[in-house]
Amino acid sequence: MNPLTKWKLQQALSLALLPVEYIKDFYRFIRYGKGSPLAPKERRLFFDIILTAHTVEKGLSLAQPRPFFGKANIQLLHEMVMDYPKNEADFSIQMSMHAIHEYLRFHTERKLTDPWIEKVAHFQELWNEKFLRDKVGAGFSLRDISTVFESIADRRFSYLEFIRSRFSSRSYLPEVIPLKEVELIVRAAQQAPSQCNRQSPNLHLYQDEAKIRELLAIQGGTSGFSNEVRNLFVVTSEITAWSASSSRNQDYIDGSLFAMNLLLALHARGLAACPLNIAFRNSKERRLRRCGGIPDSERLLMLISFGRPNPSVKFAAPSPRPPLSEVLFVHSA
Ligand SMILES: Cc1cc2nc3c(=O)[nH]c(=O)nc-3n(C[C@H](O)[C@H](O)[C@H](O)COP(=O)(O)O)c2cc1C
Repeated sequence: MNPLTKWKLQQALSLALLPVEYIKDFYRFIRYGKGSPLAPKERRLFFDIILTAHTVEKGLSLAQPRPFFGKANIQLLHEMVMDYPKNEADFSIQMSMHAIHEYLRFHTERKLTDPWIEKVAHFQELWNEKFLRDKVGAGFSLRDISTVFESIADRRFSYLEFIRSRFSSRSYLPEVIPLKEVELIVRAAQQAPSQCNRQSPNLHLYQDEAKIRELLAIQGGTSGFSNEVRNLFVVTSEITAWSASSSRNQDYIDGSLFAMNLLLALHARGLAACPLNIAFRNSKERRLRRCGGIPDSERLLMLISFGRPNPSVKFAAPSPRPPLSEVLFVHSA
């Protein structure tokens, strides 16, 4: 058989196997996904608690936090924490305790009183009773970012320190970044590895304020800072680069590596940035694609808001990292 015909046959067979692979993916997601009652309750709550606590620390890190924000999320967090089938203050609980502590401090310092704040203080007491051995260690406080960009400009960081200094910034100066500067950054981001050097990721840049408003309104994850965004990327990956059922998720992988390189390149250039999720169903993804004028053949991966950092913002959300013992599993044999 001639090599081209063989190649085409292999691709057709691989395509035919795609439904089987999706059914297997579906089974694993149903079995282990966070929404699945089959997955262990403790692990599901662990992740739910982290992401809900993060909404509180994120709200506190905005340029101007809104008094009494996040009532529904804090109530939800309380219920999840009380339902947590563990009595030791692990990473998720420590993060929540710190977020609630900072929330109360924010309101007390500004003398903002309200029955809601008394209720939150009561939540805190109940948590302290439940998790007697609570110790909230370093890494849970708002991150001091006041000298980060200065240190980058003065080349004071080693490369590892530079990587560790990156953070999601949710405040920008109202400035459109010149295209020449954006191009410089994208050139560096393109150096990301990709499977067989396929180079499937693309970037869509938006700098028109009205269009950015529209896109962010669909995305829905920038409350409290959407009006500060003057520069926005949509990171996509071209689906046509992939054929085999074995590479059905590769567009996400190559696109995410590209996005990470882009975030580091923005940071290296002294620009502030924040990745924004496109964890949408197809219908919403289509709306975003249409609004952004992005072809149907491209998978949307994430948005990235970026801009010149706002020098009056001195702190970023803590977004603490779990201890290495929960992340690094050394297989010695
Ligand atoms: C794919 C992805 C989607 C995200 N979506 C949002 C979002 O919609 N809104 C937001 O404020 N932050 C978003 N973030 C930022 C995360 O909250 C942030 O990366 C995390 O808390 C770790 O903090 P750090 O980036 O400051 O280290 C997103 C991050 C990623 C990687």
